[in-house]
Amino acid sequence: METLTVNVTNFFRNTEVYDIVEKEVLPAIIKTKNTGLRSIRIWSAGCSIGVEAYSIAMLLHHILGDDFKKFNIKITGTDIDRESLLKAQKGVYSNTEMKDVRPAFLKKYFTKEGNNYIISDELRNIAQFKKQDLISGPKMNGFDAVFCRNVTIYFQKELQEKLYMDFYNALGKDGFFVMGKTETLIGPSKDLYKAYNSKERIYQK
Ligand SMILES: C[S@@+](CC[C@H](N)C(=O)[O-])C[C@H]1O[C@@H](n2cnc3c(N)ncnc32)[C@H](O)[C@@H]1O
Repeated sequence: METLTVNVTNFFRNTEVYDIVEKEVLPAIIKTKNTGLRSIRIWSAGCSIGVEAYSIAMLLHHILGDDFKKFNIKITGTDIDRESLLKAQKGVYSNTEMKDVRPAFLKKYFTKEGNNYIISDELRNIAQFKKQDLISGPKMNGFDAVFCRNVTIYFQKELQEKLYMDFYNALGKDGFFVMGKTETLIGPSKDLYKAYNSKERIYQK
């Protein structure tokens, strides 16, 4: 259990992946939302203390600028570790998690209190965190992107294959699946996803 819930993480972990997410993935998603409810749904599966969800939230806010309020954005973080989820909900972080946050984002999206950095209410309001087991929990759907990074490394091959299929089914048309740099897409979903950027492990439905 301790191995599976190792929750080491930081904002913008593997910054090169976030470069593509910022320059290509999120703009592609936003482009498809030019009418109607303009809802954007993103799932951070195995979200640990929430920094992946908030990194995506910062990028969306940064890209959308004044249009941010016109969109109905929800970033859902799920994990099995209650302690981590509590920290995600609070949105209070220490120096160790902040190393890759660019100075402009530190200033814009956090308030500093003593040694702590507190995420802004505007970003906290679009994030929700819940306890959910990826293996036995309910199946989800309707997402524009699923991020599941550095979670499945200890899972058996059969389980990984099943999960990647679950993520495929959780995505809407043209949705993106972003996996960890140390993980490899295997199983039936491998033939279904299009490789969007194999180096950064980004796939598309
Ligand atoms: C190393 S962290 C990864 C955090 C973040 N995705 C990242 O890449 O920085 C792995 C997380 O996966 C969670 N996890 C492990 N097994 C899980 C499961 N079956 N269902 C949901 N979360 C799980 C752990 O609790 C832990 O918080």
